[in-house]
Amino acid sequence: MLEIKELSIGLDEQHIVKHASFLIKHGKISTMIGESGSGKSLTLLAILGMLPKEMRVSGDILFGVRSLFGMSVEELHSFRRDEVFVILQDAFNSFNPSVRLGKQLFALSEGKRTIGYSTFLERMSPIFSRLHLSNDVCEKYPFELSGGMLQRCMIACALYKKPSLLIADEPTSGLDLYSQKAFIKTVVEMNREMGTTIFLITHDIDVVKELADEVIVMFQGAVVESGKSDILLNSPKHSYTKQLVNSSFRMVE
Ligand SMILES: Nc1ncnc2c1ncn2[C@@H]1O[C@H](COP(=O)(O)OP(=O)(O)O)[C@@H](O)[C@H]1O
Ligand SMILES: [Mg+2]
Repeated sequence: MLEIKELSIGLDEQHIVKHASFLIKHGKISTMIGESGSGKSLTLLAILGMLPKEMRVSGDILFGVRSLFGMSVEELHSFRRDEVFVILQDAFNSFNPSVRLGKQLFALSEGKRTIGYSTFLERMSPIFSRLHLSNDVCEKYPFELSGGMLQRCMIACALYKKPSLLIADEPTSGLDLYSQKAFIKTVVEMNREMGTTIFLITHDIDVVKELADEVIVMFQGAVVESGKSDILLNSPKHSYTKQLVNSSFRMVE
């Protein structure tokens, strides 16, 4: 689905991401794991064409056979609007604090606005129930909900929108264990039921163990190994991956 080829990102004299190559395979759950500051979020911004202007970028990112770097502004906009849904770590900052959630969820889910708000609510209602949210959240402002509930609002939009690719950057950081589990369960269901391709960025090896088909290990700006999760986790090659695997104590159910 996406092929990242020799992606490098730099700023002034700094080489932040170095020749990163990896695949996000169609219909699979790919996870990128790496310590804080290893360049995961910048790699994601490169995929979205949203890197800060002052950063240098080289290499290529292919969506199918087309290079994202060769796309016009309109094409890139349509890729982001129609194909991808992105969930960021901090759900609170993903919303406008002074606008009621209903209006924001409508905009996030129905970018093209070919239907009215009441039809949107009718269609969203069963998705809310599935995520244990009530329709009342639409009347609320972001600060009136917990981080876990806001993250569930985001995933509600993703379920509504049915993107071909769902990207989530550290979506479970800062959430309580219940919300973490619920998030992971929903993502797996999206993948199994709708065939959504998932790209999930995390620093939590237990999240990787629970849901990954494919793993990409990022260390100091470089992809040090990648491949099928069962093989990679059972016989890690790079010392950083070995350390990660050994540091995990939680049993996988
Ligand atoms: N806007 C920015 N300007 C300058 N440096 C940045 C910027 N964003 C990130 N960096 C630097 O790039 C490196 C990688 O950042 P990031 O991709 O956010 O890491 P990760 O998501 O893996 O924690 C870090 O050292 C960070 O300080
Ligand atoms: Mg990050």
